[in-house]
Amino acid sequence: MFPETRLRRLRQSAGIRKMLNAPLPGPEKFMWPTFVVDGEKRREEIASMPGQHRLSIDRLLAELAPIVDSGVGSVLLFGLADEPEKDFQGSEAFNPQGTVQRAIHAVKERFPELVVAADVCVCAYTDHGHCGPLAANGDVDNDAANAVLAKTAISFAEAGADIVAPSAMMDGQVAAIRAALDSKDWKNTILMSYSTKFASAMYGPFRDAEQSQPGKGDRKGYQASYGDLRTALRESELDEAEGADILMVKPSLFYLDVLAKLREQTELPLAAYNVSGEYAMLHATAERGWGDLREMVRESTAALSRAGADILISYWANRYAEFFG
Ligand code: PBG
Ligand code: ZN
Repeated sequence: MFPETRLRRLRQSAGIRKMLNAPLPGPEKFMWPTFVVDGEKRREEIASMPGQHRLSIDRLLAELAPIVDSGVGSVLLFGLADEPEKDFQGSEAFNPQGTVQRAIHAVKERFPELVVAADVCVCAYTDHGHCGPLAANGDVDNDAANAVLAKTAISFAEAGADIVAPSAMMDGQVAAIRAALDSKDWKNTILMSYSTKFASAMYGPFRDAEQSQPGKGDRKGYQASYGDLRTALRESELDEAEGADILMVKPSLFYLDVLAKLREQTELPLAAYNVSGEYAMLHATAERGWGDLREMVRESTAALSRAGADILISYWANRYAEFFG
């Protein structure tokens, strides 16, 4: 008790603070999500995500060189289709010669040590923008979606992905993908599930980047409700039972309680997806001169680690050296 106990003793100098503080996560903990497009020499700025681009494969390889040099350990690839390529079920997602499939192959060839993950979903490839084919009543047909997701995952495994990451929030998608991988002898392909993924208002900039906004309706019938924590936690619990290797909470900064709870309930590795809206939020604040970007990035990243994230899926990763070096 005061006056004997004085906690300021423990933070009185930079040296003492450094000695006591948990270190910020190293670059190997970061996974950089990025967007691949067809063609060559394409590098299109995403207006709502300053510092992020849609890249053709040649530019992606060029852009990755300094990022890999900075020690960043992994990437998460997203593809998108032009309007005429979109159909009712998102067939382009599982085209063995698709952009993401070719990108996976090219990245593994150039950077064999880099861990390559690919997002398994069809919303950027369906003409209606939902995460699976629609049933007659307009809802996503859960089991038909699983079949399409499994085909997509297989095509990524074949292309050489280390990790496939289903993000559609369909019931049974993890079991369906695991079974499909194992039946094709892709036993070593890691399955990272977007296990507790909320229907969030923070995906706006991403949908702008991906042109994956649902035409009609929203994703509240498949993505978790932020008002129902128990069911949201069961989503992760079930994915673990279905054979997921890595679990995830998404978004992350608005859901630190979920991350911390899940950390206590599972021994699986946990990823936190620091989503596009959370990224844009800090950028917008900094742009107005209302906060220092580097300080905000460091503080929010420390929060994610402290809450229990092992892997940080983060758009800050391509500037790791600048923010954390
Ligand atoms: C698609 C998908 C989304 C994100 C990752 N995969 C958007 C959505 O569910 O609508 C969001 C990522 C971000 O906002 O950074 N299934
Ligand atoms: Zn989707």
